[in-house]
Amino acid sequence: MEQTFIMIKPDGVQRGLVGEIISRFEKKGFSLRGLKLISVDSAFAEKHYADLSAKPFFNGLVEYIISGPVVAMVWDGKNVVKIGRTIIGATNPADSAPGTIRGDFAVDIGRNVIHGSDSVESARKEIALWFPEGVTEWQSSLRPWIYE
Ligand code: TYD
Repeated sequence: MEQTFIMIKPDGVQRGLVGEIISRFEKKGFSLRGLKLISVDSAFAEKHYADLSAKPFFNGLVEYIISGPVVAMVWDGKNVVKIGRTIIGATNPADSAPGTIRGDFAVDIGRNVIHGSDSVESARKEIALWFPEGVTEWQSSLRPWIYE
């Protein structure tokens, strides 16, 4: 099965949205494989967002990510990268549909609550960066009720 990296950003943690966000991924039918509350430093945040280092918002983005603890997670399931992005909603909350996490809980692009890997390849890299210790292997007993 596919895996994706999901991070609840510092605003999501401070605003008490952790349970709500986990609940949305669980109810959809995905399985949690890794979970930790962690504060990262700027070198780590710069590594995570290395592809965006030339962008004008890069420094502000790094400051935001290191401003408080984040919840780092690995979720597993069929098409979880793509469906995870759909659950999260468009990058700019002004464009995120109601019913998505950003559509329901965010206003500003620079405080958009959550990160999700944008491809299977980035998921692989991000999981290796955030979970160098590896993640838990287990199989949900609900599987036959979620997959044909
Ligand atoms: P990006 O990878 O383009 O979006 P996404 O998180 O949806 O994959 O950008 C990473 C983060 O950078 C984004 O979640 C919010 C921030 N950002 C800004 O602050 N300003 C911007 O103009 C853009 C495009 C992104």
